[in-house]
Amino acid sequence: MKNNVIVVGGSGQLGQCLSDVTAKEQSSLNFVFLSREELDCSNVEQTTSIFEQYQPLYCINCAAYTAVDQAEDDQDTAFMVNELAVKRLAEHCLAYQTTLIHISTDFVFNGNSSVPLSETLETNPVNVYGLSKLKGEQEIQQILEQYYIIRTSWLYSEKANNFVKTMLKLAQTRSELNVIYDQVGTPTYAMDLASLIMKIVLSDAKAFGLYHYSNEGVASWYDFAKAVFEISGTDIKVLPVASAAFVTKAKRPHYSVLDKTKIKSAFGIEIPYWRESLNICIHNL
Ligand SMILES: NC(=O)c1ccc[n+]([C@@H]2O[C@H](COP(=O)([O-])OP(=O)(O)OC[C@H]3O[C@@H](n4cnc5c(N)ncnc54)[C@H](OP(=O)(O)O)[C@@H]3O)[C@@H](O)[C@H]2O)c1
Repeated sequence: MKNNVIVVGGSGQLGQCLSDVTAKEQSSLNFVFLSREELDCSNVEQTTSIFEQYQPLYCINCAAYTAVDQAEDDQDTAFMVNELAVKRLAEHCLAYQTTLIHISTDFVFNGNSSVPLSETLETNPVNVYGLSKLKGEQEIQQILEQYYIIRTSWLYSEKANNFVKTMLKLAQTRSELNVIYDQVGTPTYAMDLASLIMKIVLSDAKAFGLYHYSNEGVASWYDFAKAVFEISGTDIKVLPVASAAFVTKAKRPHYSVLDKTKIKSAFGIEIPYWRESLNICIHNL
């Protein structure tokens, strides 16, 4: 019986969180975490060889080109990793009867909504990264029936580089920080997302489809930064600034709050409030 679960992008932030979560759970599944060196998913021969070797029950794709601003200048690589490589993973999943769990992003939307974004809302990305991730989703939906696409937002954790760690690092050398107040969304603790992915795999629910997942609640980047410093007891002044004053290569959506009704009802889950999860992360750090 098949029991291998391959994790592509296994050494990224979410991949490392998933590795921690799987290490704590008892199961008959064999999780194989593949770094980019072990599996470059844009390399078709390597992908075939990994699928041939493991004949996986699940393929969890945590790999992505995630440099949002860099993607504006490096479109070829962004589309190679976020669209073409995803298409190839989906084709391999079809050939090997593997269920694909793929992670996508709130950046598939334009941010013009003022109510939480549901899975049925029309997509309209405002930057290259968002478009490349949307194309990846569409490839999966055209090729596979047995897939989960989970759109998430504002990932942070104890692992890799992320907003929380950047704020804490900046606070070591600054007494004052400007942080954007007019982009709102929900921070998501990557450990919570990893636990959800584990739950999906263990439940073997076969409730395939597109889902939204973030922590509960709403925050601006300013609120998020304030909470990081409050919880960590860091003495620093945080000043709210408009995104218009903060020029970045890539445009970003102003509103990214995801509606999680579908995933909560499909898997019977309760989702932690973002500040509660942030508290856990900062105490671990
Ligand atoms: N971070 C966020 O705020 C956020 C928000 C919404 C959605 N997401 C989505 O969530 C998922 C996980 O994000 P994350 O925060 O864990 O990102 P991350 O830390 O940047 O991890 C992505 C991983 O993908 C690897 N990778 C890049 N190109 C690859 C290739 N061709 N073959 C194999 N691996 C490759 C990277 O390897 P290297 O380290 O060698 O580059 C890195 O380890 C992604 O799908 C992302 O789009 C993230």
